[in-house]
Amino acid sequence: MTSSFKGPKASRRQFLAGAAAIGAGAATGARAQSPDPLITEVQEWAQGLGEGVDATPYGMPIRFETDVVRRNVPWLTADPISSINFTPIHALDGTITPQGCAFERHHSGAIELSKDDYRLMINGLVDRPLVFTYADLERFPREQHVYFCECAANTGMEWAGAQLNGAQFTHGMIHNMEYTGVPLRTLLNEAGIQTEGKWVYVEGADASSNGRSIPMEKALDDVLVAFKANGEALRKEHGYPVRLVVPGWEGNMWVKWLRRIEVTTQAVESREETSKYTDTLADGTSRKWTWVMDAKSVVTSPSPQSPITHGPGPLVITGLAWSGHGKIKRVDVSIDGGKTWEQARLASEPGDKALSRFYLDINWDGSEMLLQSRAMDETGYVQPTKAQLRDVRGLNSVYHNNCIQTWHVKTNGEAENVEVS
Ligand code: MTE
Ligand code: CO
Repeated sequence: MTSSFKGPKASRRQFLAGAAAIGAGAATGARAQSPDPLITEVQEWAQGLGEGVDATPYGMPIRFETDVVRRNVPWLTADPISSINFTPIHALDGTITPQGCAFERHHSGAIELSKDDYRLMINGLVDRPLVFTYADLERFPREQHVYFCECAANTGMEWAGAQLNGAQFTHGMIHNMEYTGVPLRTLLNEAGIQTEGKWVYVEGADASSNGRSIPMEKALDDVLVAFKANGEALRKEHGYPVRLVVPGWEGNMWVKWLRRIEVTTQAVESREETSKYTDTLADGTSRKWTWVMDAKSVVTSPSPQSPITHGPGPLVITGLAWSGHGKIKRVDVSIDGGKTWEQARLASEPGDKALSRFYLDINWDGSEMLLQSRAMDETGYVQPTKAQLRDVRGLNSVYHNNCIQTWHVKTNGEAENVEVS
């Protein structure tokens, strides 16, 4: 498939020529005649002292980056308490999401729970019902893993048509962090699971409790009881002091402010897994237990909030890919709405159930593009088109929309959310 691609891939020679052209371009006009004061003059910032190390005990982004923030879509939820905001994925690079701009989803607001007041109970079908304090959890052997957390509703507003103009809004209900915690299996074994115990029911300490049932096989596999993210304590909004990390599975199961784990014979069939987080299908019936987030990808730049700001020549196309089934194997990018595809470059060795960053460096000829990306995971599963997904799911679903996204990039570099048929 890649061999048939006739698109403008940048060779090293072309790239260098392009870079030279850009340099020349910047030096044309007024600047070519007069020296650039940013180079020839001693600048203000070099004439005095900068801030001392005590000015910022805990650092915040520099003021020029105040755009790189979470945003919400006001009409989406009734109020800011039971609400969602979105990660600015269009403005980030790499794969790790800083906690300070990682999307939040609360069903009854973010609560403040101290380590001293924290308790985690394991009860139900266990030999020894147990209660752990935060200090108790710190004494079990720990693990560290990078995982993505994607809300099942990510891209959920796009089922019936292209609606939100920006990768932050269409795909920003996702974050990717390095978690430190204790495997759930360790704590369950400490309590002693009885043979009839086939599920765990996990709930949070907030008013919503966000209770979910998890089959025992997953609970004993890679689920983490996590207390650090990206090296530091969880932020309040992500469940301080302790949250559940359920790798590859829908974000709703990642219970924050984790307070109780009950071992049961069956799923509880709670609100969050019956009236919510089930998928409407094309024939009007509903599907439950769609836990795993299928392979998905999106071009983060260029995109509507990250237009091309230069003329023709070298252009970096970049985006994110992930799969709840394991590692990303490959990502293809199309600039002609899916007619031809070029294999993108993965920036690093793909992680298991973690975000992968991809790049495609092209020599843009300045013409309009229909930009798409298509992920394939290690199981061989290929991200579907919108049409393929709609055949199964119809137009009335909310959750689990992992279709290929299209951005229409215009000749002036601006981009828009569109659909191709
Ligand atoms: N856990 C509790 N206790 N309360 C909640 O409202 N929201 C869930 C889940 N865990 C929620 C919760 C949903 S729907 C998602 S998508 C993730 O947390 C979001 O995690 P984040 O807010 O850290 O992004
Ligand atoms: Co969610």
